[in-house]
Amino acid sequence: MSIDGMQDIVGLKRIGAIVAEARDTMGFRVKAGITTAELDAIGKEILDRYGARSAPQLAYGFPGATCISVNEQLAHGIPSDRVLHEGDLVNIDVSGELDGYWADTGASFAVGEVSAEASALLRATRLALEDGMREARAGERVRNIGRAVEQRARKCGFRVVRNLCGHGVGRHIHEKPQIPNTFDVRDRTVLSEGLVITIEPFLTTGATAAIEGADGWTLSTPDGSRGAQFEHTMIITRGSPIVVT
Ligand code: CO
Ligand code: CO
Repeated sequence: MSIDGMQDIVGLKRIGAIVAEARDTMGFRVKAGITTAELDAIGKEILDRYGARSAPQLAYGFPGATCISVNEQLAHGIPSDRVLHEGDLVNIDVSGELDGYWADTGASFAVGEVSAEASALLRATRLALEDGMREARAGERVRNIGRAVEQRARKCGFRVVRNLCGHGVGRHIHEKPQIPNTFDVRDRTVLSEGLVITIEPFLTTGATAAIEGADGWTLSTPDGSRGAQFEHTMIITRGSPIVVT
């Protein structure tokens, strides 16, 4: 969507704060021994408390309130009785709807002590999101975001998953345009003032593609390499974006 006045900003900030609270509260509870279903229940409780609805459930019939993906799983992991172990990486992606406004956020977390490589991957992916956000300005090309993400990945020795993208958001969970994490010279899309988008780089220790699992939901690396993702929803302005998550 493109915002049309203060009411839209207020609506987006309201749902944005809710999904951010769920993301952070779940992230705070990440530790060895907890199951992904237990984490999901914490997120669901927060969405419920504010009367918000789970976006993946509402839009796609996803079997969980939030998406929780572990290690080689990149996205859309189904909450289950899978137990988190010391050294795991876990991605928590929370998106929701309230009063017709939708927001989407995600973050990856270390379970206890993780390897130096895993911890570098988390840092590089967080920086890739920041680098991408620095390019997110009215009048600039969408492809500059992907270029910044790719440059950060290369500099830190990691790879970018090419078939997972950010997207328009606001009146639905997935809207146009796509916000790729790679540079495509043919993509001439320009960011307009008021456009609402997510930026969500997926970096890995090896793979450049995500493949769908047998459950029909989970997207994983084909080679078992591990991934991380960080995601914010933001409103494009002539200056820095207004981050609502
Ligand atoms: Co998301
Ligand atoms: Co998203």
